[in-house]
Amino acid sequence: MKTDFIYRQLAWLYDYPGGVLLREGHVKVAEVIQAEHGMKVVELGIGPGHSLEYYPPGTELTGIDLSPNMIAKAKERLAAFPHLNARLEVMDATQTDLPDESFDLVVSFSVITVVDHPEKLLKEAVRLCKPGGKIIIVGRLKRPGLGDWIWQKLTHRVSLLLFGFGTNMDASVYDSILSKVEILRREQVNHVGPFTLSDIMILKKRERTV
Ligand SMILES: C[S@@+](CC[C@H](N)C(=O)[O-])C[C@H]1O[C@@H](n2cnc3c(N)ncnc32)[C@H](O)[C@@H]1O
Repeated sequence: MKTDFIYRQLAWLYDYPGGVLLREGHVKVAEVIQAEHGMKVVELGIGPGHSLEYYPPGTELTGIDLSPNMIAKAKERLAAFPHLNARLEVMDATQTDLPDESFDLVVSFSVITVVDHPEKLLKEAVRLCKPGGKIIIVGRLKRPGLGDWIWQKLTHRVSLLLFGFGTNMDASVYDSILSKVEILRREQVNHVGPFTLSDIMILKKRERTV
């Protein structure tokens, strides 16, 4: 599988230096996650499971990833977190077989810019989230201005060349779900000099209106 091949080559990157570059975003999301207890959480594209350390005791976690290699690594890492009730499975985040509205929190770090159809991942996140629940997506959005245009072209091309996937996405991809969610917070994170590598989007799924 192409995705698994690519991510097998990349496993080291998640510890150093990629892990360092993306750490600010992870830490900020961890603060949001740790503010709540006893949640049912699904993480889309959990990778090698670095995020396992963020989930407080009592969390019922479902972690999925398209890459069997990443899931194997996450399972190894899970042994260090016996307080977590976690299920880790190979699954496509744009098309899961998980039940509707079954999670209090849907999280996804640095996956939305990697999938072929980001709008499908967002729709799936909304489908899985309970009304009133939260969705946290970390992924870089394009910004206006020449400086950012040059930066995003550069990082996107370098990433495509080295890893086979891009790093940027148009913010309008969120338009497809705006009728179903409200945006609670949007923040640029993972600073590299004057530039940033990621955006955190924290969304709340609207309650059903009858
Ligand atoms: C850039 S890595 C981020 C990993 C992890 N979330 C982190 O922040 O360390 C992207 C991850 O998305 C996974 N991925 C790519 N396409 C996917 C899909 N359609 N469904 C689920 N996972 C996918 C990859 O296997 C990889 O683990």
